Amino acid sequence: MPGARLRATVAAVAVAVPLTLAVPAALPATAAPRPPAVQPGTALAEDLVVVGHRGASGYRPEHTLAAYELAARMGADFIEPDVVSTKDGVLVARHENEIAGTTDVESHPEFAGRRTTRTIDGVPVTGWFTEDFTLAELRTLRAEERLPAVREENTLYDGLFQVPTLDEVLELRARLSKELGREIGVYIETKHPTYFDGIRLSLEEPLLADLRQARLDRAHSPVYVQSFETTNLRELRRAGVKVPLVQLLSGAGAPYDLVARGDRRTYADLASAAGLREIATYAQGVGPEKNQVIPRRADGTLGTPTRFVDDAHAVRLLVHPYTFRNENTFLPPALREGAAPDDYGRALAEHAAFWDAGIDGMFTDNPDTGVVSRQLFESASN
Ligand code: G3P
Ligand code: CA
Repeated sequence: MPGARLRATVAAVAVAVPLTLAVPAALPATAAPRPPAVQPGTALAEDLVVVGHRGASGYRPEHTLAAYELAARMGADFIEPDVVSTKDGVLVARHENEIAGTTDVESHPEFAGRRTTRTIDGVPVTGWFTEDFTLAELRTLRAEERLPAVREENTLYDGLFQVPTLDEVLELRARLSKELGREIGVYIETKHPTYFDGIRLSLEEPLLADLRQARLDRAHSPVYVQSFETTNLRELRRAGVKVPLVQLLSGAGAPYDLVARGDRRTYADLASAAGLREIATYAQGVGPEKNQVIPRRADGTLGTPTRFVDDAHAVRLLVHPYTFRNENTFLPPALREGAAPDDYGRALAEHAAFWDAGIDGMFTDNPDTGVVSRQLFESASN
């Protein structure tokens, strides 16, 4: 077992402050007290975790109940719904609110008039948007594979599955936990929270309501809540959410909530030792892009790990990088096998380098591969 790896615990913070609606004001950091260790049997901070990224999205269209179920059956500790809002305020699992890329909405003539252009996080996007559909309307659509050129096999399932609500994902989690005899966790990401605040469909209130209805807003619940923005995580902490929070980071750009209020801090600032210290006042983990942990050299090989894991662990933040995928096109050039972009390369070698670098978990489209690489790492470490 690597000495540097964090044996951190997760936070339980109970401060009775209601969430604000609409565009939130900047909030000061509040220190998150450190809780007792997580209970045995939950795959939270004590174990290396494998997160089924958007489900087992390497094998099924992403963010469908079928993708989540397969991830759990493959051994994932967590399934990962990204959430956005419908017109009637229901949280549904989609990677973004524009749905032409992952549903058959374009082939529904009754919705042709809803094609429009919206500015999402400062970028004009044209298509169909969840916030223009009631849940009942969204239910008439069917999911489609996002990457048909890379994952042609997954198109076999196009047209079979609905867009699930977060409630349904939580029900699936409960059912599979019972059947499989282990806790299946949910690792929920709020997508575009500032945007949704701006159209009065704030994500945080229904998220808390869904978690509380499922009796999951507890200190030892197998739940993480993650965001690429900062303000909503601070708000959730202040609102008394008891589950651990994870600040997502990126190798480029800046959190949109900071951009929107003229704060010039970037993800690079947040990923510095000082930035991580600040994150540790409201979150229990960070989700960096892989390259922030191990950059790629110009020759296509993986380079020397950065200070990121050590700096995060120094302030007791868990490190769960994204996104690990088996296909050549997503791997460092030196780990590719053959010329076809959709063939599998040496993904286990990539995973091994990251486990060796001290990460505490990984987001992967191929949870079965993540489970194998973790097993290999743990066997070699004992
Ligand atoms: O949430 C971790 C990872 O999923 C972030 O990337 O864009 O796939 O949601 P994305
Ligand atoms: Ca995500």
